[in-house]
Amino acid sequence: MIVPKPVRQESGPGSFVLDGRTSLTADPALGEVAAWLRAELAPVAGGELLPGPGSGTITLALGDLPPEGYRLTVGADVEIVAGGPAGAFYGAQTFRQLLPPGAFRRAGRGPYEVPGVRVEDEPRFGWRGCLLDVARHFMTKHDLLRFIDLMALHKLNVLHLHLTDDQGWRLEIRRYPRLTEVGAWRKESQTGWNGAMDGRPHGGYYTQDDIREIVAYAARRHIMVVPEIDMPGHTQAAIAAHPELGNLAEPLEVGTTWGIGDNVLNVEESTIEFFQNVLEEVLELFPAPYVCVGGDECRKDQWKASPAAQRRIRELGLRDEEELQSWFVRRFGGFLAARGRRLVGWDEILEGGLAPGAVVASWRGDLGAVAAARRGHDVINCANTSLYFDYRQSPGEDEPVPFGTVLMLEDVYAFEPVPAELRGDPAAAHVLGAQCCVWTELIDSTRQVDYMAFPRLAAFAETVWSPAAPAEGRDLPDFRARLAAHLERLDAIGVEYRRVSGPLPWQTRPGVPGRPEDPAGWQAQIDAWTSNLRHLR
Ligand code: ACM
Repeated sequence: MIVPKPVRQESGPGSFVLDGRTSLTADPALGEVAAWLRAELAPVAGGELLPGPGSGTITLALGDLPPEGYRLTVGADVEIVAGGPAGAFYGAQTFRQLLPPGAFRRAGRGPYEVPGVRVEDEPRFGWRGCLLDVARHFMTKHDLLRFIDLMALHKLNVLHLHLTDDQGWRLEIRRYPRLTEVGAWRKESQTGWNGAMDGRPHGGYYTQDDIREIVAYAARRHIMVVPEIDMPGHTQAAIAAHPELGNLAEPLEVGTTWGIGDNVLNVEESTIEFFQNVLEEVLELFPAPYVCVGGDECRKDQWKASPAAQRRIRELGLRDEEELQSWFVRRFGGFLAARGRRLVGWDEILEGGLAPGAVVASWRGDLGAVAAARRGHDVINCANTSLYFDYRQSPGEDEPVPFGTVLMLEDVYAFEPVPAELRGDPAAAHVLGAQCCVWTELIDSTRQVDYMAFPRLAAFAETVWSPAAPAEGRDLPDFRARLAAHLERLDAIGVEYRRVSGPLPWQTRPGVPGRPEDPAGWQAQIDAWTSNLRHLR
């Protein structure tokens, strides 16, 4: 009943008893994993899991396996053999899932008996990500650490933190304190399509110490934190703090509504320098080899109307505003490459040509993934047609405000990270993996994040961890059975996932008429958005 499904699992002889006399020993190279597992299991077992002799022993050892691979054998003792610390951590996560769900309450209710089993496992993709938008709605450090633990439970390994947007700037920058003094706070938020506002002030940000703590906490759980500083669009909060970054004479406030905003950065050298200074601090805080600079949804109206932007276009010998955006993003690609990091950008960055080494986060359907891979760029598949968890899970009257389309659990489970057009094409090797995205325009609390992310995140985890689906598709009944057990674990942890009464919601896809939840209309919308990528595929 393990989620995500392991490569191989078979029952074996004997059984293991976890109790107050259980001991734990580990290869010194796996000391951190052992410390983590001890902390997880000690309250459950009712003992300290000391290295000394006990009634049963859990051993963590290194073996000749891929770094994220492991072999778990449960009999009278437990042995986890792994290719490296990450593999040992995943083996330990699997072991936890063999315990009854009550063990996830950490309530000291052992002894627990685990029937003999042998599991051999390794992930299909190296990039198993989740984007969390802490810009639209701030999430406290404590809640973010909890979310990291939930990602780790599902063997995800990349947290893409969307730190800045029109509605908020969430990262302390020492050189520019106004970014958070002003940019981290807004007076109210839009609540739905009818333009209603909630009248409730909102805000918050992470200090640099917070970020160091978050990055270290995630690293101990084998999760890389990839920061996103979105630009040149989605920058109204920064412009509110520093009007000199914008194109208008009059001041702006931090965004309170959502959608694709008009307010974008100007293209002065001083603005590029400002953001390079910001990135210098970002690079100090985030050791990940990848840094996302956004590049999505940049409206060009202000550049069209700006004499300064037009002059820049002429000086640089560019054709138009699209090329100006491409030039802007490339300035940061070069900056990051010179510092040994790789630029990640949304698929719009393909539109004007890209520096080699840039990674494309493809979000508007599959087209960007196909085009990027065929042009030799690595790709993270974030298809909004399957992986945008701000979209509702059902069209029910009691569901949140509609956004995008309906993405049911089974839609997510049917997702295939390698687009159909790339199957059999060597360019498919550029697909590093995939990423589900929890955008929070309309998600204003951790409880709502739980509701929107779970249980879909469990289905997503299986699409990036478990072996590729056979031609006839993934085994849905098998997933249903394992998910039922998994929901009991989520209950024990206190995850407020989307609950269903009676059987799980495997209803047929409802044909909801009208915008924006009509799937055909939605696909037409995506086709229109990506029409300028079509010639690249
Ligand atoms: C995006 O959804 N604008 C990446």
